[in-house]
Amino acid sequence: MPASPDHDGLPLVVDGLDFAWAPDRPTLHNCCLQIPRPGLWMLVGSNGSGKSTLLRLIAGLLQPKRGTILTPLHPAMVFQNPDHQLLMPTCGSDLQLGLPETLPPSQVERRVEELLTLVGLQGMATRPIHTLSGGQKQRLAIAGALAAEANLLLLDEPTALLDPDSQRDVVALIRDLCRQPKAPLTALWITHRLEELSHCDGAARMERGKVGPWQSGAKLVANLLPTGGGGG
Ligand SMILES: Nc1ncnc2c1ncn2[C@@H]1O[C@H](COP(=O)(O)OP(=O)(O)O)[C@@H](O)[C@H]1O
Ligand SMILES: [Mg+2]
Repeated sequence: MPASPDHDGLPLVVDGLDFAWAPDRPTLHNCCLQIPRPGLWMLVGSNGSGKSTLLRLIAGLLQPKRGTILTPLHPAMVFQNPDHQLLMPTCGSDLQLGLPETLPPSQVERRVEELLTLVGLQGMATRPIHTLSGGQKQRLAIAGALAAEANLLLLDEPTALLDPDSQRDVVALIRDLCRQPKAPLTALWITHRLEELSHCDGAARMERGKVGPWQSGAKLVANLLPTGGGGG
């Protein structure tokens, strides 16, 4: 749904969202969230607090019982396990699948290489996907979202299955995409790895189906640690 004049220019406005998987057990209740500008925005929260449900609602994979989701952007999800979203045998064929149908066939090869280069997989169009590392697969999944012209990336613990080096590569890639001067992306990233919060433009805590206010990653980490500022 496009944003109303009130929310002109905001990448995402979530207002008064209610959702329940089971009757009488609300997962989200009057959940509100605004992303003020493009950038990398992170959500943390305990298991079952509703983070994945919220991302699926924003992606349009679920319908809310009540409330609105306003965005002028084109959302796409990136899941924890890239094997669940890479469908074709090679890097190139997988990206082709996501390209807009309006792209002239003569431009497909160039666009595929452009996308691979953007995520650090240049020259790998014919590479079988099963030969990629976990981090490379995750970067290919991100390229797939970009192939489909997504500019609101919804990342649900995208580094949870990765080794530390691949984890850093993926965070750095998303951070760079969110800071590119021409058409910076907006990313909403769920994590439970607190070290990732140092890369975000803002972080918020989700508890029992509600999102708290944005704060700096460092401040949120300080509040979460037992020795922190008593934020619990
Ligand atoms: N597919 C599902 N079917 C039924 N209940 C679900 C489903 N997905 C999540 N839930 C429930 O919704 C609540 C929130 O889950 P979730 O959004 O996955 O939280 P988080 O991502 O923060 O761990 C939990 O109580 C969970 O059991
Ligand atoms: Mg989850």
